[in-house]
Amino acid sequence: MLGVLELSYLWLKAAHIIFVIFWMAGLFIFPRYLVHHQDALGRPEEAAAWIEREAKLRKIILTPSIGAVWLFGLLLATVGHFWGETWLYAKLAIVFALSGFQGWLVGYSKALAKGEARLSSRRLRIFNELPALAVVVIVYLVVVKPF
Ligand code: HEM
Repeated sequence: MLGVLELSYLWLKAAHIIFVIFWMAGLFIFPRYLVHHQDALGRPEEAAAWIEREAKLRKIILTPSIGAVWLFGLLLATVGHFWGETWLYAKLAIVFALSGFQGWLVGYSKALAKGEARLSSRRLRIFNELPALAVVVIVYLVVVKPF
C-alpha cells in the first residue's frame, strides 16, 4: 500500500513531467519564432504579427511552465530526499543554463521588436538546437542517475 507521502510524490512527479512537456514545447518553438521574426524585419506587418505571437507564447506557455517546473522539481527533490545526490546538482546546473537561455531569448525577442538583429540567421538557427541537447542530457541524468 502506498503511503500518503509516496502517493503525493507520484502526483508531484506527474505534475513535474506535464509542465516539463509544456516548457520544452515552448522552448523548442520560441527560437524558431525568432528566426521567422528576424527574416520578416523588412516587412513591418509581418514583424508585428511575430511580436504578438512571441508575447502570447511567453505569457501563456513559457512563463507559467518554467515556474511550475522549478516548483515541482524542487518539491520532488525535497520530498524524495534527493538532496546530496550528484546527478541532481548536474541536472540543476543544466536547468539553470536552460533558464538563462530562455532569458537570453526573451532579450533577443525584445531587440527584434526594436528592429535590431544581433546574430546572423545561420547562428540563430544553430542556437535552436540547444534545448534539444539539454533535454537529452537532463533525461539521461534523471533516469539513469549515473552518479
Ligand atoms: C527545475 C529544476 C528541476 C528539478 C529540481 C528537478 C528535479 C527532479 C526530481 C527530484 C525528480 C524525481 C526523480 C525520481 O523520482 O527518480 C525529477 C523527475 C524528472 N524530471 Fe526533473 N527537475 C527539474 C527540471 C527538469 C527539466 C527541465 C526536465 C526536462 C527537460 C526534467 C525532466 C524530468 C523527468 C523526465 C523526470 C522523471 C524521471 C523518472 O521518473 O525516472 N526535470 N526531476
